[in-house]
Amino acid sequence: MAEDRWAIAVHGGACDIPADLQAPRREGCAAAAKAGAMILASGGSVLDAVKVAVCLLEDDPAFNAGGGSVTNADGEVEMDAGIMDGATLDVGAVACVRSLYNPVEAAHAMLREPPVLLVGAGAEAFARSRGIAEARAGMPLATPGGRGHDTVGCVARDRKGHVAAATSTGGLAGTLAGRVGDAPLPGSGFYAEDGIGAVSLSGDGEAIARTLLAARVMRALETADASAAAEAIFAPMARLAAEAGVILLDREGRVGIAHNSPHFAAAFVREGMEPVSGIVWKENNG
Ligand code: GLY
Repeated sequence: MAEDRWAIAVHGGACDIPADLQAPRREGCAAAAKAGAMILASGGSVLDAVKVAVCLLEDDPAFNAGGGSVTNADGEVEMDAGIMDGATLDVGAVACVRSLYNPVEAAHAMLREPPVLLVGAGAEAFARSRGIAEARAGMPLATPGGRGHDTVGCVARDRKGHVAAATSTGGLAGTLAGRVGDAPLPGSGFYAEDGIGAVSLSGDGEAIARTLLAARVMRALETADASAAAEAIFAPMARLAAEAGVILLDREGRVGIAHNSPHFAAAFVREGMEPVSGIVWKENNG
């Protein structure tokens, strides 16, 4: 039965991806989706699946997140990440963190804590208290000349119908210090709710936040199929002349992917599918 299948989708950013980064991003998305798929196939939790997949993307310098993050106007890295449990609606998020090697790990550790979002030094102190790794001396946390805006993310569904979503970003290159985009904001850069689905966004963070884009896609998922729900990003982004890309899973694990950016790196695997044939790479469909 379709509803007993696990499914996972990841993205590596909606933007104009330079030619030299296209193959690394496609391969990085495939590897992250496969890692999450192994967790789901062995009965692991959706939260572990999305966390591990996003950690792999954060570890990969081809992506603007974690170790591949761009720098702001002060030449500093400031990263944001959020994760959501669709079963409990628990959210954990961190913003403006500079030294965490995997910001999504800190967000994951916050899931059962009273605060939803910790920022800057407070988030880093919390992460230290939980034994979460900080960047080691000599380990660069920025891509020299890092380009563009993009984000990484993952959505997953287990065989019982539980869903989760996670998003992580190095933000926009050259922005004001302290700027926070959509990635750590539930309802903007991500959302998950059992019985409806899970969604993760990439793109122009201010436009995504101003239009509550994840919430709009979730609303669409209540009545539309996965493909049609993904297309809910087009009108709000056109109104603000902004770019975005979305991955989602509906309540039964069907995938929806849409973007109005020149490129969107994404991969997905659903139980019973050949993992490699689940890699998608789209151009100019918006
Ligand atoms: N979508 C990532 C950001 O704008 O920060």
